[in-house]
Amino acid sequence: ESTLGAAAAQSGRYFGVAIAAGRLNDSTYTTIANREFNSVTAENEMKIDATQPQRGQFNFTAADRVYNWAVQNGKQVRGHTLAWHSQQPAWMQNLSGPTLRQAMIDHINGVMAHYRGRIVEWDVVNEAFVDGNSGARRDSNLQRTGNDWIEVAFRTARAADPNAKLCYNDYNVENWNAAKTQAMYAMVRDFKQRGVPIDCVGFQAHFNEGNPYNSNFRTTLQSFAALGVDVSVTELDIQGASPTTYANVINDCLAVARCLGITVWGVRDSDSWRSHHTPLLFNNNGSKKPAYNAVLDAL
Ligand code: XIL
Repeated sequence: ESTLGAAAAQSGRYFGVAIAAGRLNDSTYTTIANREFNSVTAENEMKIDATQPQRGQFNFTAADRVYNWAVQNGKQVRGHTLAWHSQQPAWMQNLSGPTLRQAMIDHINGVMAHYRGRIVEWDVVNEAFVDGNSGARRDSNLQRTGNDWIEVAFRTARAADPNAKLCYNDYNVENWNAAKTQAMYAMVRDFKQRGVPIDCVGFQAHFNEGNPYNSNFRTTLQSFAALGVDVSVTELDIQGASPTTYANVINDCLAVARCLGITVWGVRDSDSWRSHHTPLLFNNNGSKKPAYNAVLDAL
């Protein structure tokens, strides 16, 4: 095959990309994105601050720009993200307790109603665990509403769009030996045992000096899949874009039947949130990097 999306489709998987609405008028960008990828995640446009800037006033202008570009070009869409400590609008940052809990529920219902039946996977909750060796939840206004905020989010999401796959998504959880990975594993196992509706786990896979790729990532993917959830690589970028490391990640996903697909977090290095890491598959001029060829060969 000659594109990433077509190559991934040979094994029933997708190869996706994060798209920024503000770049959709850049024809170099849209040409590559349309040619190579068959799944899209909005890089920022479906986040809480973008979709509910004022309490009770939903705005899907930018989100729909990304969504419509994707669907008009035949791509599926991952929803990102509904409940998160970051990129909250000011009104939400200032809430706490039962009022915040209700606002979270209302937000999930509002956004999922707009996209009901049209989003394959939703990142319902993002980044709820803290880094380091504690294995604890991250302190946040949402966490302070009670430890059950995550399962409430998932139950709300299931009712709001019964056909969407509901994912928990996090970073620095690729290494099987990390306390954060084990904490996430214990939560998913508990949710499955108690019937909390969770369908998938997203591994962001931002690899860098602080979070280097480890070959036990495959064990991580296999271990979560064995709990009865799908897994996906949701925000892949690799500092320095080592072709070998990119190929390893692809092979790890391909080795796990329940690995649904891979999404890279941007098109060209210049589009990356960490552009100084030159972590992506395309150069700033749109040409393919060695990592691109390694990925295509691995798929
Ligand atoms: C990042 C975007 O790429 C940036 O444009 C934005 O300024 C901050 O958020 N984990 C996530 C993503 O789940 O939403 C983040 O995206 C990167 C880390």
